[in-house]
Amino acid sequence: MKASKVIEKLEITGVSSDGKSVGRHENRVIFVANGAPGDIVDVRIVGKQKKFLLGEIIHFHEKSADRTDPFCEHFGTCGGCKWQHIQYDAQLKHKQDHVAHNLAKIGKTALPDLLPIKGSAQTTYYRNKLEYTFSNMRWLTREEIEDNDELSRNALGFHIPRRFDKILDINHCWLQGDPSNEIRLAVKAYAEKNELTFFDLKKQEGLLRNLIIRTSTTGDLMVILQVFYDDQPALSALLSHLKDSFPEITSLLYIINPKQNETFFDLPVHTFHGEGFIYEEMEGLRFRIGPKSFYQTNSIQAYELYKVAREFAGPTGDEVVYDLYTGTGTIANFVAKKAKKVIGVESVEEAIVDARINSELNNITNTTFLAGDMKDMINADFVKKHGHPDVIITDPPRAGMHQKVVEMLNEIKPKKLVYVSCNPATQARDLELLSPVFEVVAVQPVDMFPQTHHVENVMLLKLR
Ligand SMILES: C[S@@+](CC[C@H](N)C(=O)[O-])C[C@H]1O[C@@H](n2cnc3c(N)ncnc32)[C@H](O)[C@@H]1O
Repeated sequence: MKASKVIEKLEITGVSSDGKSVGRHENRVIFVANGAPGDIVDVRIVGKQKKFLLGEIIHFHEKSADRTDPFCEHFGTCGGCKWQHIQYDAQLKHKQDHVAHNLAKIGKTALPDLLPIKGSAQTTYYRNKLEYTFSNMRWLTREEIEDNDELSRNALGFHIPRRFDKILDINHCWLQGDPSNEIRLAVKAYAEKNELTFFDLKKQEGLLRNLIIRTSTTGDLMVILQVFYDDQPALSALLSHLKDSFPEITSLLYIINPKQNETFFDLPVHTFHGEGFIYEEMEGLRFRIGPKSFYQTNSIQAYELYKVAREFAGPTGDEVVYDLYTGTGTIANFVAKKAKKVIGVESVEEAIVDARINSELNNITNTTFLAGDMKDMINADFVKKHGHPDVIITDPPRAGMHQKVVEMLNEIKPKKLVYVSCNPATQARDLELLSPVFEVVAVQPVDMFPQTHHVENVMLLKLR
């Protein structure tokens, strides 16, 4: 067999947009898994594309001063926290650089100096939502394969990166606090003891599909179990077991999902126990969150993010504000007290129902929430009906805004546009289209996802 090429003494000089470390050799980019900028390493080439190579570290000559020991037993295999080997201060620096680089390179417009990134007070157990997948195709380690023992192939955990059909069984996850790990382990132990079947993605068979755990700073705890078919005796025995073992669970829900994929926006959610919602609190405001509703996954940092958005929006009491991609209306309700009125738009109907309830819960009477696809909603008639906005806050998903929406913002011409984004690349792409009409006056990166390469960024644009 031909030995794969080894590149010696490669210096890792940066990180890529998807978090891999990067070096250069003979004018070619090499993406290296688990490297850290400052490492000098020998790298075995494990993949080749036209414009770049993929490498794995086989020997260290020098370790980066930014390195630290990863604390998770699943590090290196799990796709979750790929930056655990980099000290948190250095992670923040790379995120700040990443935002600056994207906005400058793709945004192609003049930028002010970026404000220093707001780091997260909690760097572990910071997520309020985790989603685990059941599978009968557990990812096996090299040792397990070599030992050739009879092993259970059942798994309840996370997808192996780029392997949609393989699931890493998780023993302890550092992303969500107690009793998240205990619940997952208890579900798996019960399912194995009672011989419930774990989903087989290829054959499309097996009962158990997916487990979602949502927590809140109020102590509320929601567990959602997705199954492939309706087996009431098995379901109710498993859910009763969970309810009895974890009195902390305030909402226990299940979904019967006979589809090929795990998305459940179009399926009914059944309540086995509790109210069917959890509540989050912020600055004395209470937010109701349903099983289908988006809520920022790091609740404590979400407050920091919303404060930045509100400060950038700068409402004084007289403004008409649009909150685009409003989710459960959190930003809309957060700024409502300081605005004349706020109109929130979002595609998920159930989130809009929650947004309205959230206004009611907090005695906020100057909000209007509307459901629909943004590109079909925001138009001249909308503006005529709801009033010309002084400020538009927009917080789209990772894909950024549809071009039609960006063009509409250019036509509507609010005095201020606050753009909250979880993907600096698509934010920069949209910025290029916005820049003939708006200029960037402030940029504030916020770290919502420690131990990962992900970064949130808030940008204030003003009409030129
Ligand atoms: C990043 S979240 C922002 C949510 C909210 N601003 C918050 O902070 O909780 C993006 C939201 O956009 C919604 N969304 C995605 N695509 C959409 C579309 N085409 N039209 C309207 N809303 C959409 C999602 O359902 C999600 O609630």
